[in-house]
This record gives sequence, C-alpha cells and structure tokens, in this order.
Amino acid sequence: MAQPALDGARAVTDTLGRPIRDLRVSLTDRCNFRCDYCMPAEIFGEHYEFLHRREILSFEEIERLVRIFVGFGVKKVRLTGGEPLLRKDVPLLVEMLSRIDGVADLTLTTNGYLLDRLAAPLAEAGLQRVTVSLDSPDDGIFKQMNGRDYGVEPVLKGIESAAAAGLSPIKINCVVIRGVNDHTIVDLARRSKGSGHILRFIEYMDVGNRNNWNLSQVVTAREICERIDAEFPLEPLNPNYRGEVANRFAYADGSGEIGIVASVSQPFCGDCSRARLSTDGRLVTCLFAGGGDSLRDLMRAGYSDAEIERAIGRIWSGRTDRYSEERSENTDLDGYARSDRKIEMYQIGG
Ligand code: GTP
Ligand code: 5AD
Ligand code: SF4
Ligand code: SF4
Repeated sequence: MAQPALDGARAVTDTLGRPIRDLRVSLTDRCNFRCDYCMPAEIFGEHYEFLHRREILSFEEIERLVRIFVGFGVKKVRLTGGEPLLRKDVPLLVEMLSRIDGVADLTLTTNGYLLDRLAAPLAEAGLQRVTVSLDSPDDGIFKQMNGRDYGVEPVLKGIESAAAAGLSPIKINCVVIRGVNDHTIVDLARRSKGSGHILRFIEYMDVGNRNNWNLSQVVTAREICERIDAEFPLEPLNPNYRGEVANRFAYADGSGEIGIVASVSQPFCGDCSRARLSTDGRLVTCLFAGGGDSLRDLMRAGYSDAEIERAIGRIWSGRTDRYSEERSENTDLDGYARSDRKIEMYQIGG
C-alpha cells in the first residue's frame, strides 16, 4: 500500500499505515438530552454520577494537547461531548484553539438545543462550522427520541442562527433507526433540500453497551439511498478527501447534496485517521475501544511536551483498531456487537 503523505513534524502511522489527521475532543460527558440510543433516561437519571470538574480536562490542558497533536499532522479539530455547549465558556476555548497554527478546520458537533444563543459568539471566537444532530423533523418523534420531551423548534432556530453567523456549510446528522424514525427520512430530506445545509444519514451503530443494538434496527445506506432517490433522484459524488466518512450524493435537480455514513454496511476503517480525546483526557483510538491511555495523568504528573509526544507516538504506532470491519467479517453480528465492553458515545462524542 502506498504510504500517505506525512506532513506533521512528528508524523506517525499505525500498524495499518494510517496517520493521525483528525482530533475529536469531548468537552463534557453531560447532555441535556437522553437519546435512547446513547444515554437512556432510565440509566442516566438524577442520581447518575457524571465526571467531577477536577477529572475533566481544563481548557489549558486541551489547548496543550491540541498543539501537540498538530505536531503529528492533525489539521481538523472537532469539539464534541456529550453536549459540548453545556460546557461553560466554550467560545473562550474556541478562541484559544483557533489561534493554533495548523488547525485548518475547527468545528463542533451539537444537538443544537443551545445553539441559537451561542452561534454568534462561537463564530466570533473563530469556530468555522457546526454539525447539528437532528434525528427527525417530526416534533412527536423528536421528543420521543431525545428522551426529554424537547420539541424540535429550538434546534431549527439554532441551525438558522448558525447559518446567519456564517458557521457553514452546516451539516445535519440523522441517525436512522428502523421502526423509530426511518419513516421520516424523506420528509427530512424534503425540508432540508435547497437550504444549503448538508444532510447526513447515519447507519445506527453498536457503540457503547447500553442501547441493546441489533442488526434488525439498522437501515442500510443502500436502503436509505433508495428511499430518498425514489422521491428526489440522486447522483453519486466523489469524496472531498481520502477517508471521508460519508458517501456523498447530489440531488439531480441541483438543489444540494446529502451524505450517508455507512459504518455498519460498508465499514471505512482502512482510512481511519481519527483520534479521540475523552472528557477525562484519555486518548481513544477507536469509537469502539474499551478505554484509552490517560494523557491527562501524564500532564498532571509533570511530563514535558516531548514526553507526551513520545507517549502518543507509541500508542498510535501500536494502533490496530478496525472494529467495524471486524464486526462485518463476523457471521454473528448481533453477538459480536454484544461481546466486548466498549466506551460510551457520550464520553467521546462520535
Ligand atoms: P466532516 O468533517 O464534516 O466531514 O465530518 P465527518 O464526516 O467526520 O462527520 P461527523 O464527525 O459528523 O461524523 C458523522 C458520524 O459518523 C458520527 O456521528 C459517527 O456516528 C460516524 N463516525 C464518524 N467517525 C467515525 C469513525 O471513525 N468510525 C465509525 N464507525 N463511525 C464514525
Ligand atoms: N449510531 C450512530 N450514530 C450515533 N450517534 C450517537 N450514537 C450513535 C449510534 N449509536 C451520533 C449522534 C450525533 C453524533 C455525535 O453521533 O446522533 O450525530
Ligand atoms: Fe443524544 Fe448526543 Fe446527547 Fe447522546 S450526546 S444523548 S446522542 S444529544
Ligand atoms: Fe475508525 Fe474504529 Fe470507526 Fe473503524 S470502527 S472507522 S477504526 S473509529
């Protein structure tokens, strides 16, 4: 296999030749929603113990680690959660990160509920774009899916404010679950068509241990594509860059594009160059990893940048992760999905 071009000062590749290009940083493990597929309300109730303040990375620690990762060739930084906008003073962090030379793409994934108020301050601070989760345009289904009975209106307002603040192109992520929201995907496509936003449908994945995932709930990319195409003809587009997670399609009538993330039916581990930092500062090398090594502990034990770089280099060069491919190579997919203890999505944010 041809080696990818390595342009970070300390570029490193893993055991499958994959560099680090993309860093996702979880700012909090808390969320104002209780999506059943991520933080089911019956588990994450009033008495659930989230991380304490002292356990989570400070802004200074995040900035320090982002600088170090940029040295490895990271160009894209995505802030996630839980719900990242619940973290106090996020625009301040954005400002700190936007000053780092080498961060070419600074973005954030949010459920959009608090976005209306924060879009302008985030854009002013240097955020370039946002991705907003929106699983259904139907108020009833939206309320049911977020587990909190919150209506869809504030999210739609948040998307409008983000567009007005220039946080575009805005991507809208919809996780498709059979029997829950799959009957509203065409409607979602209808409403977003022509808006300039990029709607992305995501195959429901077996992340974490708490959502009782099974294959029968997955609507494959192929089926999603067929259902949209039947109403609004689609044409495939080439990827924007190597390793892009979504397959792109254009509306044949020129009214924009959509993406479909086929991580279950067409895994894309071969090009996976995404590193994740959990809220408490662990380096997580796969969405389905069991855990990760704490970079926070190294920083708090007084390690120098050079020592932390060496630790990251060691972890990444030993990386073997290809969970989604392994899952699909297994004949008992449901059993495989249940077999391991995996990190939860709200600790690393997707
Ligand atoms: P852009 O920079 O906007 O292209 O972002 P992206 O395409 O990386 O998309 P985003 O971070 O919004 O990811 C969309 C969804 O794809 C996530 O919410 C996850 O559900 C899924 N996803 C992203 N990265 C991975 C990955 O490395 N592995 C798997 N299995 N799924 C992923
Ligand atoms: N499968 C697919 N996508 C998921 N997300 C959260 N849990 C899952 C899952 N089980 C998505 C959210 C959001 C992003 C952070 O990850 O909907 O768009
Ligand atoms: Fe839902 Fe995202 Fe919150 Fe999880 S982190 S409960 S997917 S809004
Ligand atoms: Fe990357 Fe793991 Fe997702 Fe595969 S399953 S694409 S290795 S994060």
